[in-house]
This record gives sequence, structure tokens and C-alpha cells, in this order.
Amino acid sequence: MNYQYKNLCLITKIFFPLAALLSASAGALAQSTEAPTFYGEAQDAFSRNCAECHRSDVPNLGGITAPFSILSYEDAKIWAPVISLRLKDGSMPPWGAHRQHQGTFKNERYISDEDKQLLIDWIEAGALQGDPAEQLDADELALSAPPNEPVQAPDGSMWWMGVPDARVAFREPVEVCEEVTDWQPTILMQRTEGDLSKHQWIQATEILTGSTMHHVVSNYLGVAVPGRRPQVYPEGWGFLLPADPFVTIGMHYAKQSGPGTAVEDNTVGGFLFYEPGDVIDYVVQNTIPMNRDIVIPPGDPNYMTTHEHTIEEDILLLAIAPHSHYRGKAVKVELQLPGVDERETLLWVPNYDFNWQFHYEYQEPRFLPAGSKYHVTWWFDNSADNPANPDPTAEVRWGARSVDEMMNARYFFTRAEPQGIVVGDAIPESILAQARRREQFERGQYGGWDTENLSQLCGP
Ligand code: HEC
Repeated sequence: MNYQYKNLCLITKIFFPLAALLSASAGALAQSTEAPTFYGEAQDAFSRNCAECHRSDVPNLGGITAPFSILSYEDAKIWAPVISLRLKDGSMPPWGAHRQHQGTFKNERYISDEDKQLLIDWIEAGALQGDPAEQLDADELALSAPPNEPVQAPDGSMWWMGVPDARVAFREPVEVCEEVTDWQPTILMQRTEGDLSKHQWIQATEILTGSTMHHVVSNYLGVAVPGRRPQVYPEGWGFLLPADPFVTIGMHYAKQSGPGTAVEDNTVGGFLFYEPGDVIDYVVQNTIPMNRDIVIPPGDPNYMTTHEHTIEEDILLLAIAPHSHYRGKAVKVELQLPGVDERETLLWVPNYDFNWQFHYEYQEPRFLPAGSKYHVTWWFDNSADNPANPDPTAEVRWGARSVDEMMNARYFFTRAEPQGIVVGDAIPESILAQARRREQFERGQYGGWDTENLSQLCGP
């Protein structure tokens, strides 16, 4: 959770009566010049930009849920001062990538200047209700939510991608004890349904988080974080899951500590597979170029570190997923084409927020020729002014715990040349070896735990 905002909320709640008084007079003034009202204009803008998460049947986004329904006038009015703050500081709607990237990535979330101004005007004019008769009904709400509904599996679980062909789960639920505030175990999940005893080509993956605490789940298949939907690859693009009884997953549990805060987690992963006879032209791979030589001095408000990596063959770039921890402040990914002096910005995230691990997926995969350089720069704020900083007096180094740091920008790609692999036929040895190396890397990176005795681990 972002403590700065939690505190802000408290403060705004206490002072809201005062704010309401002040704005009531402003409202009266503005009303004469046709101030926007909730039912008149604001509701529509909220529904297009915010209601994907802020609604009454609120989706559980990896344990984070949006705190109120923005489609209810009563709620929106109470939250109006905080809504104004979050619109102005750009942290809602959450997206991270700078507006210069508008139109580049799938599922982007940018609010237009007009909508933003309209909502701020609505709040500053006193958050007026307007005429309830103008309330939009369910069909008229242009919900920014995905158009499809989740489907129900026979056991009652709900999946956006469709009922999975195979599932993996913990051997037993993970106990997250009372003392835990921040814990990142790497766990081997095991098959509970479907066939993982042979190599499978994945078309889609989805992770169901198994508790209501805030957590981020990641593995090389993608991440499950607030607002993230299933990972669905385009037709003909597949991710190879080598035959293996286990699939490695990196959990991150974050919660308040203290009596009564212990939680049991039962996260489940689901896969949709290609069928025998389907053709895989593009084998999805990913790599994490990173720099482990991080030494952030205590109190440093702007520590910068870079990493450069050369791409060896022609590829199609699918997605970029930058990652650091609490002190991460901003990240830039640049591309230097062979024979070109300047670097071009692929991704600029000026206000990185650890709670939202975005995965920026290209609308159209980008061709990068062999010899291109992938250049990553991270900035960190280890000062007391960073509200997320757990300890500004610490010298911070690379490490898996969130109190340590990381600097990377994993990218997902395929070889540019179509492979024409028929599902069910023998898989080329080099592709299989590469997929096995990737799984072993994830497992070895932090010392993956077998699923035995999970309930006795219960914390770091
Ligand atoms: C992808 C989902 C999502 C979208 C879209 C979204 N929000 Fe949020 N919002 C959240 C979540 C989750 C939280 C709670 C965690 C946090 O504060 O970051 C939140 C928190 C908030 C808060 C309360 C913060 C606090 O201080 O407690 C406000 C106000 C807010 N959002 C306003 C908006 C507005 C206005 C929009 C649209 C312009 C919007 N949000 C769009 C998910 C979303």
C-alpha cells in the first residue's frame, strides 16, 4: 500500500467537512455559470476512465481493490478531494508510462486533458449532484472494463481467458504470519489439473490470487498485479512449457503486521494450450538484462544506475516489464539501432510505483535488428522524502527482498523469422534447451522452495 496516500485519505476525511463548506459556496457561485454536475457530465467521464476498477462489484486486483465506487454520487462526493489530488498528481488512472507513449501499448490508461479538467472543475465547483433523472443506466455506462465476462469453471472459479486446460497450485496453502509485512518467497507450484507430463505450447495464462492481501505474483509467464488481465498470446505465438512436475512462481506478500493479520494464500495458475496440429511461428522468450552492482548510499535522493545489453539476432519485441522495489523512482528504456549514434526512447516511466508492476505490451510487435542495444536507466530515491522508503539510513544493494533493490526491464520477444513448428511434432532441441534454462534460472535465482512444509515457513 502506498502509505502517503493512506495518510492523505485520513487527513482529507477529517478535514472534508471543512472542504465541503468551502466548496459549497464555490458551488453556489459556479452553478450560475453552468457548473458540471455528477449526473450531467462527471459520471460519464468517471465511467470511461475509472469504473473498470472503482465500481460496486469491484474486481479483486491481486489483493488490491479500488476503495470506492466512483459510479455512486454519494461515494464520489465523499472522495472528491482525494480524487482531485490523484488526478492532478497523475497517479490515477494508474498507468505509469509517460503520455508520449499514447497509442503504443495495449490496454493503456490515459485520461484525456478534457476529461481530467472536467472532473477537476466538477470537484472545484462543489461536486454537485445534478438531476438524478439523467443517471446513466448500465448499458449507457461506457465501462472501461473488458467487454467479455469471466467464465466459470466446474469448480466455481472464474477465469477471464476461459476455463484452463491445466492448473498449478501450491501443495498446501501458504501461511503468511502475523509478523510479515513484506515477504517474497519463490515457490514451486505443482499440477492439479491437466497434463504437464509432456511439453505444452501455451496460448494464454492467468493467475488467480488466493487472498485479499496485496500481493504481486510473477513468473516468466507474466505477472499478476492490480489491473492486469490474463496474458493471451496472438494466434501462432506460443510459450513453451517444458515437461516438468513444477512451475516456479515468485510471490510477493505485503500487508500490515500484528495480531489478527495472518493470512492464508492459495494462488492458482491456469494455462490454455495449443492443440496438436496448430502451428507455432513465433516462440515467445524473455530475458532480464540487469545490473546487480547497485550500491545506493543512505539518504541519496537520486541514485542512477544503467545497464546495456546487445541483442544478438533479429527479433520482434513484444513487451517490456520494468522492475525495481520501494526506492525505484523512474525508469527509461532506450534503443540504439546498429550504426546509429542516438538512442531512441522505448519506454519512459517518470513516476515509478512499486505497487503497480506494469507490463507494457506493444500493440504491434516492434522489429529490432541484430546488433541493437537495449539500454536501461533506473533512478532511485533513498531519502526520507520517499514515502515508500522503508529505511533512508540504509545503504541499499541488489537483492530479492523488497528492502533490497533491483533494476531491470525484462523484455518479451520472439525471433523475427517464422519457425513453423507443428504442435505435437518434435520440438527443436535448441528451443527446448532454452525453455529449460529459463525455468532453471527462475528456480535458482532466489533458491526456489519445494512445496513441502509451506505452512511452516510462514515468513522470511
Ligand atoms: C486499474 C484500476 C484502477 C483504475 C482504472 C483507477 N483506479 Fe483509482 N485506485 C485503484 C486502486 C487499486 C486503488 C487503491 C490503491 C491505491 O491507492 O493506489 C485506487 C485508489 C484511488 C483513490 C484513493 C486513494 C487513497 O488515497 O486512498 C482515488 C481517489 C482514486 N483511486 C481515483 C481514481 C480516479 C479518479 C480514476 C479515474 C480517473 C481511477 N482512480 C482509476 C485502482 C484503479
